[in-house]
Amino acid sequence: MASSSSRTHLWLHLLYLVLVLVQSGCLLQVADSTTGIGVNWGTVSSHKLKPSTVVDLLKQNRIEKVKLFGSDPDVLQTLMGSGIQVMVGIPNEMLATISSSTAASDLFVRQNVSRYMVKGGVDIRYIAVGNEPFLTSYAGQFQSLVVPALLNLQQSLARANLAAYVKLVVPCNADAYESSLPSQGAFRPELTQIMTQLVSFLNSNGSPFVVNIYPFLSLYGNSDFPQDYAFFEGTSHAVTDGPNVYSNAFDGNFDTLVAALTKIGYGQMPIVIGEIGWPTDGAPGANLTAARVFNQGLIYHILSNKGTPLRPGVPPMDIYLFSLLDEGAKSVLPGNFERHWGIFSFDGQAKYALNLGLGNKLLKNARNVEYLPSRWCVADPSKDLTDVANHMRIACSAADCTTLDYGGSCNGIGAKGNISYAFNSYYQLQMQNSQSCDFDGLGMVTFLNPSVGECRFLVGVTDTTTAHSSAFTPPGRWCAIVWMSVLWGVWVFLM
Ligand SMILES: *[C@@H]1O[C@H](CO)[C@@H](O)[C@H](O)[C@H]1NC(C)=O
Ligand SMILES: *[C@@H]1O[C@H](CO)[C@@H](O)[C@H](O)[C@H]1NC(C)=O
Ligand SMILES: *[C@@H]1O[C@H](CO)[C@@H](O)[C@H](O)[C@H]1NC(C)=O
Repeated sequence: MASSSSRTHLWLHLLYLVLVLVQSGCLLQVADSTTGIGVNWGTVSSHKLKPSTVVDLLKQNRIEKVKLFGSDPDVLQTLMGSGIQVMVGIPNEMLATISSSTAASDLFVRQNVSRYMVKGGVDIRYIAVGNEPFLTSYAGQFQSLVVPALLNLQQSLARANLAAYVKLVVPCNADAYESSLPSQGAFRPELTQIMTQLVSFLNSNGSPFVVNIYPFLSLYGNSDFPQDYAFFEGTSHAVTDGPNVYSNAFDGNFDTLVAALTKIGYGQMPIVIGEIGWPTDGAPGANLTAARVFNQGLIYHILSNKGTPLRPGVPPMDIYLFSLLDEGAKSVLPGNFERHWGIFSFDGQAKYALNLGLGNKLLKNARNVEYLPSRWCVADPSKDLTDVANHMRIACSAADCTTLDYGGSCNGIGAKGNISYAFNSYYQLQMQNSQSCDFDGLGMVTFLNPSVGECRFLVGVTDTTTAHSSAFTPPGRWCAIVWMSVLWGVWVFLM
């Protein structure tokens, strides 16, 4: 009897201690420090910053987690010694090879992962195997490759002694699951089996489920979608789901996934948001104010640790904002906004005030950006511009003119403004090559910035680490010739 009562005392003491810790915020602090805010660093841009400038930008803004879409050697070399945690990516197109060949999978791990995981190297934490491979619009073409690729890569990681540290994940689009109410969430019927295999694999290897969630696209694609439900400022269109009330699309979407995971037996699976953000241009709902309000609301919501109705107090493990920089060479098939997701413009300048919750109150701009000279190409006002349509078409099919269209920041600068904008975009894309401002004599170079209001006429940046239009510089060609003669010599010698 005495011993059991002293045990009760011990338990009460422990309980008291826990309560004191909770009260003083100690436990909350622990939970707080585990929610990471990272960014996606995509590089589909015609004006690329040097990787070293981007890594410095990340450090200046205390961003400690970055998600890549590949494993570009220049980028990874620059991340060496930075202390930044990295998710590298394997493009969908590589899944066929990696899923069918352990040699290919070993080679990938050796060349693109283990090589960098040395002292003072790159802190690679995740490998994203494919990017949204189950997207409805891919019509199932990558579907059967994902799990075999995971199995091969897991073995390759084990052989490289990295399996305990580097986790395999599969970023999924939120179209992998559906439901009108969050609690009814389920994976698409044709994905149920594959998702069960995938999630069981993730679970047994300690990997999170990675999902990309885009309230902007819900709003953009659906004129009935209540605008205020996309944001975090409260809504007059709350969704009532049994005892739970949802006041923003993010929570509703997140819990739909939680319900879908629960349905296949993995309700506790940790979730990482692989992409989330709001574009600033290229559509009526894409503007600076909306992007700031969405991203800031999201960050405060995540950092409040409130979680969602189905996961109270458990926010996502990490979120990766989409995106760090604008990518002016992305396909505009989904819409013109595709080129304008950055919290920074292509040249690393903050677009709006944003507190990432990482220590700085505001974003800091990139330092030491190397711009081309301050000059622009515009339409010569003394010329007759009636025959300019073809020039414009060619300029805009090569360069980015998305801001000119309806909903863009340069829509409304007039016919002559349109022409000048197109000419300048092309001229900067061609690294200000003087012939590229000719347009049969209709263009002229100016030293006066033609930007008007929010419509910015850009000046390109120089990315001296990669060669431009002329792929072989003279010394490069010379080296290639020498190498070819050496190889030819070896071949002749061996015969
Ligand atoms: C893997 O690394 C090699 C060698 O650095 C590089 O050429 C290749 O592009 C990388 N593969 C991917 C998918 O990024
Ligand atoms: C910015 O976008 C929001 C919604 O995304 C919209 O309500 C607002 O009218 C837009 N602002 C401007 C100035 O276009
Ligand atoms: C400028 O170009 C945009 C996009 O093609 C078009 O919507 C707009 O009407 C043009 N403006 C004028 C004045 O022609």
